[in-house]
Amino acid sequence: MTLIAPSLLAADYLKLGEEIKRMESAGVDYLHIDVMDGHFVPNLTFGIDMVAQIAKSTTVPLDVHLMLAEPERYIEAFANAGAAIISVHIEACTHIHATLKAIKKTGAKAGVVLNPGTPAEALNAVLSEADLILQMTVNPGFGGQSFIPETLENIEKLATWRTENNYNYLIEVDGGINQETAELAKKAGTDVLVAGSYLFHSPNLEIAITDMRR
Ligand code: DX5
Ligand code: ZN
Repeated sequence: MTLIAPSLLAADYLKLGEEIKRMESAGVDYLHIDVMDGHFVPNLTFGIDMVAQIAKSTTVPLDVHLMLAEPERYIEAFANAGAAIISVHIEACTHIHATLKAIKKTGAKAGVVLNPGTPAEALNAVLSEADLILQMTVNPGFGGQSFIPETLENIEKLATWRTENNYNYLIEVDGGINQETAELAKKAGTDVLVAGSYLFHSPNLEIAITDMRR
């Protein structure tokens, strides 16, 4: 089963409500929301109130990707805002094990994110704690970048370790996902495809989503 999570980063912000309804009607599994602080990544995007308003406007679960330094400071706020999944970067967390526990304590699912340059082995000690592992397939900060094929190796490892040890995490990819790269990611073991530009700029959303699921 392939799950689809459109990234609102690529939406038309002046029509955000309509954009969300459009994705909801197309039957997406999550709405992916990229929160950036201008510090961990060189860009600024959405905050807590934005997530809270989006949560009130839709029944689609929110997949909140925190690209923040010290993300542990904001976990409770995003959980209260209505995030179903909260993902933090391993590169931004001094105490990743404690941070994943803190996310789960709020009732949200706990995700951990790997930048393209971070080896999958960095997660060895938290694989049993994670509900989701998000492999960045571009450097985080901007939409519309090209997929980095070397990141597939991490996905293959995460999929193998999951089978060998009966771990429960979902594997998600984010960045440069389109019809071709979705296929590569799927073959490597991905469950959840995040796509921004490809879905929001698609001339036929329903077909794009059906093709991606396939
Ligand atoms: C990048 C974000 C992505 C971004 C992907 O830092 O994490 O979610 O929206 O955009 P596309 O699909 O256009 O590469
Ligand atoms: Zn993202």
